[in-house]
Amino acid sequence: MKPAKKATLAKVILATGFGFASLTASAAVTVPSYNIEAGKVIAEANCAACHGANGVSAVPSQPNLGGQGVQYLYKQLVDFKTQARRNGIMEAQLKGLTQQDLADVAGYYTSQAPWLPGYGNKATNDAAHKLFLGGDKTRGVIPCAGCHDPKGGGNEWAAFPRLGGQHASYLATQLKMFRAAGREDDVGSDQVRTNDSAKKGEKGMMQMVAAKLSDKDIKMLSEFLSAVH
Ligand code: HEC
Ligand code: HEC
Repeated sequence: MKPAKKATLAKVILATGFGFASLTASAAVTVPSYNIEAGKVIAEANCAACHGANGVSAVPSQPNLGGQGVQYLYKQLVDFKTQARRNGIMEAQLKGLTQQDLADVAGYYTSQAPWLPGYGNKATNDAAHKLFLGGDKTRGVIPCAGCHDPKGGGNEWAAFPRLGGQHASYLATQLKMFRAAGREDDVGSDQVRTNDSAKKGEKGMMQMVAAKLSDKDIKMLSEFLSAVH
């Protein structure tokens, strides 16, 4: 069992008892002390069918979880639970789970190895790599690497997710949801991602980043990232 650690970032999640409340502040995601063995039991019973018992999923719309930062995983689970992040499938999966269960299962998937290298796209990998590392000043695209690490490994304690080795089509869907946030267009029926923003109507980090990305950028960045490790 790993001790719980604290991270500083732009948001605080307050989880009191079984009630979950997401607050805006410059504070931290605090993951309760977790038990990896208990998390494994939950993962095998409730999550493995879609995310794999070891956190590698076979279906591209279902993200890989192995080796993802614990702060990030826990935050996403709380966000699904509080419906700050909307996805019908995931909300249903978490119905019976307590705050401690969420911490345990996040701790279990963190302890698994990150994903195997993905597929990439030779034709656009170099252009995508350049955009990932340096952004594009002329179009206001911010470099991704500053937050997500030059190798796509993320920043565990800031809850910036690992992107390297994730399924390309999952990444592309998330970027499109961030880009669509606050607008009515191309948002899926039961799928919305506004948990990156502090308040309703405000734009979060990724929503501002994604607002500058074209469909072509999203496609090549997602394909590139799937193969980075
Ligand atoms: C029936 C399939 C299914 C099951 C079972 C399932 N999930 Fe998911 N999960 C999904 C899908 C689909 C998404 C992508 C949602 C989206 O696009 O926003 C997802 C997303 C996630 C994410 C967000 C990952 C990221 O990179 O942001 C986490 C964390 C997660 N699931 C954890 C779990 C855990 C823990 C369990 C078991 C308690 C579980 N899931 C059970 C289908 C499933
Ligand atoms: C200022 C920091 C920052 C920058 C720059 C940034 N990101 Fe992010 N990114 C984040 C944070 C924070 C999250 C998690 C948001 C949340 O909790 O929902 C995230 C989430 C994501 C996700 C969702 C991952 C998942 O598993 O669901 C993708 C995809 C992503 N970023 C891609 C990018 C790309 C591509 C770029 C560059 C064009 C980029 N990001 C630039 C901070 C950043």
